[in-house]
Amino acid sequence: MSDSSPPEKLWGGRFTGPTDAFVEAFTASVAFDQRLYAQDIRGSIAHATMLAAVGILTGEERDRIVAGLTAIEADIDAGRFTWSIAREDVHMNVEAALVERIGEVGKKLHTARSRNDQVATDIRLYLRDQIDGILAQLVRLETALVELAEREAETVLPGFTHLQAAQPVSFGHHMLAWFEMLERDRERLRDCRKRVNVLPLGAGALAGTTFPIDRELTARLLDFDGVADNSLDAVSDRDFAIEFAACASLLMVHFSRMAEELVLWNSQQFAFVDLDDAFCTGSSMMPQKKNPDVPELVRGKSGRVVGHLMSLIVLMKSQPLAYNKDNQEDKEPLFDTVDTVRDCLKAFGDLVPTLKVRRERMRQAARAGFTTATDFADYLVRRGIPFRDAHAVVGQAVKLAVERGCDLQDLTLADYQALAPQIDNEVFAALDVGASLNARNHRGGTAPAQVRAAAARARTRLASA
Ligand code: ARG
Repeated sequence: MSDSSPPEKLWGGRFTGPTDAFVEAFTASVAFDQRLYAQDIRGSIAHATMLAAVGILTGEERDRIVAGLTAIEADIDAGRFTWSIAREDVHMNVEAALVERIGEVGKKLHTARSRNDQVATDIRLYLRDQIDGILAQLVRLETALVELAEREAETVLPGFTHLQAAQPVSFGHHMLAWFEMLERDRERLRDCRKRVNVLPLGAGALAGTTFPIDRELTARLLDFDGVADNSLDAVSDRDFAIEFAACASLLMVHFSRMAEELVLWNSQQFAFVDLDDAFCTGSSMMPQKKNPDVPELVRGKSGRVVGHLMSLIVLMKSQPLAYNKDNQEDKEPLFDTVDTVRDCLKAFGDLVPTLKVRRERMRQAARAGFTTATDFADYLVRRGIPFRDAHAVVGQAVKLAVERGCDLQDLTLADYQALAPQIDNEVFAALDVGASLNARNHRGGTAPAQVRAAAARARTRLASA
C-alpha cells in the first residue's frame, strides 16, 4: 500500500477539510476487501455492458471501460497494482485507477450504481464461487469416505456409547456415518447458495435509481438466478453470509467430531488407525512422539468458525434499514470462515485416503468389553425367553465373566445352562462379533451387505451432485 501523494477522495465534493489520518485508516477496508477485486471488476463489466444496452453509455464508452477494467485486473493479478488507503476500499481503488487509465469516460462507470449495491454484489459473487469450491471439496472427501467404507465393510470396530465399548459395528458403517453428516452439510450449502445467488445491483444506495436500467440483463451477465426485489433489503441484509457461517459452523462441528475420533483411534490406547507420517509432527523434547497435529488443528479451528458466526449475527442485530457502515465488518469473519473451511476440507480430503486401518487390533478390541451381550439377549428371546428376563440372564453371565476375568465366549455351555436351560451350543455363534454385524441386516444397519448397499446409494447421491 502506498500513499505518498494521497489522491483526492472520489466523494470529496462536499467536504472542505481533509479526513483525519486515523479516521482514514480506521474507516478503510482496502487492506482486506482487495481480495474482492475479481468480483468487483466482473460486476463493473456487467454493469457497463447493461448501461450500454439501455443506451446510457455508447458502445465505444463501454468498450473503453471494459478494456480498462480488464487491464486493471491483469495488473492486480500480476502484483503490479498499488492499493491506496486514501481510496478507502476495493471499489474506489479500482474506479480511481480506471479514471487514471482511460480518462474522463471512466467517471461514467458509476452511473446508476452505489458502492452499497456494488459491495453486496461483490460479496454474493465471491461467496457463490466459494460455496461451489467447498461443494466440490466435500464431494472429494465424501468419495474418499465411501471408498474407505467399501474397503472396510467387513472390518469390525467396537461401537461406543458413552465412550464405552457398546456393540460391534462395521468400520465401513462408521465411515458412512461421517458421510451422512457431511452430506447434510452439502445439502445445506446448496440450499444456502440459492439465497446467496440473487443480484443486488440496481438497488443504488438504498432507493433504486432514476435511470432506465435492465436488472435482469445484469443478473444474466453475472449468472445470478434472480434479482433482489426490494432495494432497501438488497443493500442492507447480510443474512446470506450469516446463513453460510451457520452452515460452515455445523460442518466444522462435524469435522471436530471426526477429528476427535481420529485422535483417539490414533492413540496407543486405541491403536485402531495409523495416520500417515505426512499428517503428523514430532515433539521437540520427546523423541518417541508422532502427534496427530492435523486432526487436532481441524478440531481446534472449529472454534474460530463458530466465533465468526457469532460476529456476523451480532453485527446484523439492530441495524436500521438500509446500508450502514457496520456491514463493512462482514468481510473479515466471512473470509476467514471460507479460508478455514477450505483448508480443513483440503487437510481431511488428503488425509482420509492415506488412513491405515488396523483391522486385527480393532477386532480384538471389539471382542473385549462384552460387546455382543445384546446379541446374546436377542438369542435368548429367540429361544422363548422374554427380553426383560433375557437381559437379566445376560447380566448374570457378564457378572460371572467379570469374576473370572474372561470373555463371554470363554464361559462353558454348562455355565450357560446353569443360568438358563434353554441355552444350547449355538450361543457361541451368537456371541461372535462378525455374526453380530451380519445379524443387523436391514437398511441403516451395520451388516457388511447393508454397508455395501449404503455405499452404492452414497455413490449415486454423489454422482447427482
Ligand atoms: N467498503 C464498504 C463496505 O465494505 C463499501 C460500501 C461503502 N458504502 C458507504 N456508503 N460508505 O461495506
